[in-house]
Amino acid sequence: MSLLNIRIYPDSILREKSVEVAEFNKELKEFVANMAETMYANEGIGLAAVQVGELKRITVIDVESGEKRGNFQEFINPVIIEKEGSVKSEEGCLSIPGYRDTIKRAEKVKVEAFNCSGEKFTIECDGLLAICLQHEIDHMDGVLFIDHLSPVKRMFFEKWSKKNLLKERI
Ligand code: CO
Repeated sequence: MSLLNIRIYPDSILREKSVEVAEFNKELKEFVANMAETMYANEGIGLAAVQVGELKRITVIDVESGEKRGNFQEFINPVIIEKEGSVKSEEGCLSIPGYRDTIKRAEKVKVEAFNCSGEKFTIECDGLLAICLQHEIDHMDGVLFIDHLSPVKRMFFEKWSKKNLLKERI
């Protein structure tokens, strides 16, 4: 396994749309394992493939903490088929290190996706997993959590990012 390089805002790849995975092969399994390793190494609860420079509709998620951590789940070609309610919560993003803010999302979601073996599954969830899934699926369409901020907060973020993120870019 190997660690992957995380793309940092305002890297333009973060604005691109990812494409569906068509082949469920060994390379996909290896890539997903590397994504999970990268997520754990950076103490994230979710990571989308675009964040490591691959425009594919893949995310790995593990919202557990402490000793329960380690059993990530991959969601390949995920689609939100139902949304319900509204909830505010604080989010961060491995591509926007150091910035957190509160945004609104659906409270419950029903998502259809595939695992690494190409098996389709459906998950209905709320809480942190529902929020994380919406955040990661947004990534696949070039959308970042800061896009959900109010115009005033967004202006604050842009100033913050120029001061704090540009220097991290290579
Ligand atoms: Co993110």
